Amino acid sequence: MKILAIESSCDETAAAVIEDGVKILSNVVVSQIDIFAEYGGVIPEVAARSHLEAILPVIHKSLKEADLNWNSIDAIAVTHTPGLLGSLLVGTLTARTLAILHNKPLYAVHHLKSHIYATWLNNEIKPHFPLLALVISGGHTQILYMKEHNHFEIIGTTHDDAVGECFDKVAKILGLPYPGGPSIATEAKKGDENRYKLPHPKVNELDFSFSGLKTAVLRAIQKEVGVPISYPSHELAKLLSEKQRSDFAASFQKTAVDILLEKLNLAREKYPEVKSLVIAGGVSANQKLREEALKMLKNNSEGHPQLLRGRSEEPRKDGRDERPEEIFLTFPDPKFSGDNAAMVGAAAYFEIKSGVKPTDPYSLNIAPRSPIN
Ligand code: KG4
Ligand code: ZN
Repeated sequence: MKILAIESSCDETAAAVIEDGVKILSNVVVSQIDIFAEYGGVIPEVAARSHLEAILPVIHKSLKEADLNWNSIDAIAVTHTPGLLGSLLVGTLTARTLAILHNKPLYAVHHLKSHIYATWLNNEIKPHFPLLALVISGGHTQILYMKEHNHFEIIGTTHDDAVGECFDKVAKILGLPYPGGPSIATEAKKGDENRYKLPHPKVNELDFSFSGLKTAVLRAIQKEVGVPISYPSHELAKLLSEKQRSDFAASFQKTAVDILLEKLNLAREKYPEVKSLVIAGGVSANQKLREEALKMLKNNSEGHPQLLRGRSEEPRKDGRDERPEEIFLTFPDPKFSGDNAAMVGAAAYFEIKSGVKPTDPYSLNIAPRSPIN
């Protein structure tokens, strides 16, 4: 089954053709990062206009790269929630029109599901069920339990900022360019991650909170430079030495990674039956996070960087041996961590396999916010 997938929920205009959920026949992504680097963040109206300009050429290119015409496409899939209103509208209206025009079934896909399904693409080791997925992006920070395909239970979520948002805001405070995640990761390589001690938030169980961490960085910088400026933050950034900047980037990145993995580990303890841990979404591209996650599960992977035998050394107190022999830690190929349409095609395929029916192209609506279900 060949699906033409479209993604436009934020600032990437993307189209891909995916065969049977895992085979990438084409993958085209046009990013607006260069536009928004100048502004220091995404401007929704500008994003929507840029999508409008790019979307048809991107779709044509994806068909051309796959060397296919509309006759060979079995279905169309599109992200309809969550995301920026104008951005989502461009993608969904285009998909609806094409579905009607070419008489193809249309599938509406939730963006977070797509991020999880990115892990099925280009991966030698596919996730196994039941699994825990840590989805970390610019808009979301959640831990989900998946018993099987298309079954999602939110077991942890952020009370305020998403972790990607926190990377972006801290980068701004440090005077580093947008998007903040990659800038901080690069800057952190030069820094001492133990130089500044930053607090872990006190939130229940598997939930997260990242707005306090951003404020803690701000306060620590103010203290370090001895000036209480908090706005505009670039005034503060100017007072930092090169060394202080990279030490702050490294200390922040370490703290954010520790918080994420602490919660994922706690989730793993609470759900001992899980066979796979999936870490997906834009922030999952972070190299430090990948390395620390592997360490967390004690890497004895024998040549398979993603395969881990994470068997607990402690027998369960109740005597049952429910913990599976192996835990597979899987990340998407880094090129599918951020927004793309290949992951939308993968998610749609597995939804179709689970019995999800096509949506009505005359009435499909968008939703800027809506929980995964
Ligand atoms: O999934 P994504 O592309 O878009 C959303 O759905 O939000 O995620 C974008 C987020 C941004 O906040 C960006 O700074 C962050 O992912 N990000 C990273 C890295 N690459 C992108 N964060 C940390 N380390 C990275 N290497
Ligand atoms: Zn995303």
